[in-house]
Amino acid sequence: MKAIILAAGKGTRMKSKINKVMHLVGGLPMIRHVLNAVKGAGVNDCFLVIGHGGDEIKEYLGDEVTYILQMQQLGTGHAVMQAEPHCNLKGESVLVLAGDTPLITEEIIKDLIETHKNNAAAATVLVTKVADPTGYGRIIRAENGRFRIVEEKDASPAEKLVQEINTGCYCFDASELFVALKQVRADNEQGEYYLTDVLEIMQSSGQAVVTSFTADFEAVQGINNRLQLAEAEKILQRRIQRRLMESGVTIIAPETTFIGSEVRIGQDTIIYPFTIIEGKTVIGQDCKIGPGARIKDSIIGDMVEIDSSVVISSTIGDRVTIGPFAYLRPETKLARGVKVGDFVEIKKSIIGENSKVPHLSYVGDSNIGKNVNIGAGTITCNYDGVNKHRTVIEDNAFIGSNTNLVAPVTIGRGAKTGAGSTITKDVPEGVLAVEREKQRHIPLSKMTVKKE
Ligand code: UD1
Ligand code: CA
Repeated sequence: MKAIILAAGKGTRMKSKINKVMHLVGGLPMIRHVLNAVKGAGVNDCFLVIGHGGDEIKEYLGDEVTYILQMQQLGTGHAVMQAEPHCNLKGESVLVLAGDTPLITEEIIKDLIETHKNNAAAATVLVTKVADPTGYGRIIRAENGRFRIVEEKDASPAEKLVQEINTGCYCFDASELFVALKQVRADNEQGEYYLTDVLEIMQSSGQAVVTSFTADFEAVQGINNRLQLAEAEKILQRRIQRRLMESGVTIIAPETTFIGSEVRIGQDTIIYPFTIIEGKTVIGQDCKIGPGARIKDSIIGDMVEIDSSVVISSTIGDRVTIGPFAYLRPETKLARGVKVGDFVEIKKSIIGENSKVPHLSYVGDSNIGKNVNIGAGTITCNYDGVNKHRTVIEDNAFIGSNTNLVAPVTIGRGAKTGAGSTITKDVPEGVLAVEREKQRHIPLSKMTVKKE
């Protein structure tokens, strides 16, 4: 079975410069969710109809799907027609879905396919019932058992009251679909070739056209504007967080928490309020995350605590504590037991087991060994205005408060630096390096300015 996914529309109602299906829900483009569901249902041969903003989609999905260009957006029927050379195969079925239905699930698609097969139908339409059907095509049923789909703009006041709607997902007999599509006319309010018209055409020629009902309106909601996008986000968050809670994660205040679709979190980890966990983040067991943490694309071990801090593209070992108010930038690696305290920024640095950077420091482009203590206010001066240089601090070193480490520089094993030193030369193992003027005491009387 093949799938045709429609994503060529302008998405006018989004009022956006980017393609509608590239807008994010749960941190992933809508089209990603649709594709995941289609593939989850066992359909791997996907054709994506693109037009407006198609290049962005191509860049994102690469060769995962076959692209079909719809030069002019003349309607959903016209869009599907473009796939004919690839999909018009006798005896085959084809799924048609809209790219703007990101919450659809593989179960619903499987049900649709099954209903289609069980009825040996030429076409099966996925329908649902909704309290407010505004904007959707209404399923208008006749007494003879036939039905047609009437778009919002073409509907009479009586038809507008109908709550049974077209979800925009279908299963078709491929060759019958393309025969019927050739008869579709653009004689409607929008002057478009509606895909929905093939259903009437097929029924008139005596073919079996049926509906597959899902009670889960939330899952088949179409996203046409930013309000619906926000609603979809809310629904997806509920789904993601429910899955995590069912697997043993505590989420104290779900309504203030955002967790991306691909995030994984271990058992007995507690997520405190106002926390955002994004991208491909994996968090271990027994961690305390938040309040107010933002973690993106990072691997976090077990028993880690992250309070009011930002962690981006970093790897954090077991039993590490971070924050409050730390900023861990990409390519940071903290080994087991490291402590990063308040107002500390770390970038592209590796910090060894049990080392501590407790307060007010900038550590950039550094390799720090085990059991190192970095005093408050320590700054690695890693940038000379042209190039970045590395700082190396070996095991058991002790960096005095307010030390400037002018890179490239190495502090040897067990060495110390005096508070306030600006270290520009390598410090050998086991010495104390002090670089600062001797303190002098000048009597205040000698400091009075002499008069001319
Ligand atoms: C469509 C259905 C409507 C259904 C609703 C479900 C039609 C005529 N109407 O309406 O019955 O209730 O979906 O969400 O099919 N597209 C193209 N090329 C085009 C036009 C659209 O690829 O020329 C794509 C869009 O990018 C979008 C999808 O088709 O992904 C649906 O188009 P949209 O304009 O959103 O249709 P609706 O008005 O929502
Ligand atoms: Ca739509």
